Amino acid sequence: IYPDLYQGSQAVAQEIAALIRDKQKKKQKCVLGLATGSTPKALYAELVRMHREEKLSFKNVISFNLDEYYPISKNERQSYNRFMKYHLFDHVDIDPKNIHIPDGEVAKDDIKAQAAAYEKKIAAVGGIDLQILGIGKNGHIGFNEPGSSVLSKMRLIALDNSTRIANAYEFSSMAEVPRLAITMGISNILQAKKIVLLAWGGSKAKVIQQSVEEDVTERIPASLLQNHDDVTFVIDESAGVELT
Ligand code: F6R
Repeated sequence: IYPDLYQGSQAVAQEIAALIRDKQKKKQKCVLGLATGSTPKALYAELVRMHREEKLSFKNVISFNLDEYYPISKNERQSYNRFMKYHLFDHVDIDPKNIHIPDGEVAKDDIKAQAAAYEKKIAAVGGIDLQILGIGKNGHIGFNEPGSSVLSKMRLIALDNSTRIANAYEFSSMAEVPRLAITMGISNILQAKKIVLLAWGGSKAKVIQQSVEEDVTERIPASLLQNHDDVTFVIDESAGVELT
């Protein structure tokens, strides 16, 4: 628990930087699983600063984003493709061919094949070393809404109304918020070697308490992380107020 989101984000940025540098020394790739939304913005800003001021290189980084709205064009302002470029990829030296983000432009009939190919790529590079997560107020991780199975794989999912409302600020009207998204599944997330979930602010306090202190249940997808061997929740004081 950190006093504020900036100190929490700095600590996670340092952990990511240490992992990237350790892998560089060993001449290995560093495979990062990345999230979007308001939560990781300060983390990405800090990584960009470290690239500019502390020579942190992303040349050995391979990234896989968790999710993308569907359907959405890559260039649309609200797309997670655009988000990642704007907040991170355009400002660091990652090789564009090492960036993977679910494709919101794919034909509906091709989603299954693309999802299988995405999972195969993750496996081919040896799995995700460090997965960054945010959390929805309803407990979703990625866009695995409540009820998502612990065995769920990458797929098309209908967004909960609460998620559409939470994300409506990015769009000009509620009607424009996509009803669907492509997301990595819970089983994919649980395969990461290490998971760091970030949460800031009082609006996440209740779900943080439920995820960490209550039963493991598919009704609160983040609670399923209790089954993983190496998970850290990095939160600020306001997100921690409901913890006992
Ligand atoms: C985004 C994602 C979502 C968000 C969650 C919280 O890639 O996977 O699970 O992390 O909806 O969103 P914010 O950070 O906007 O509160």
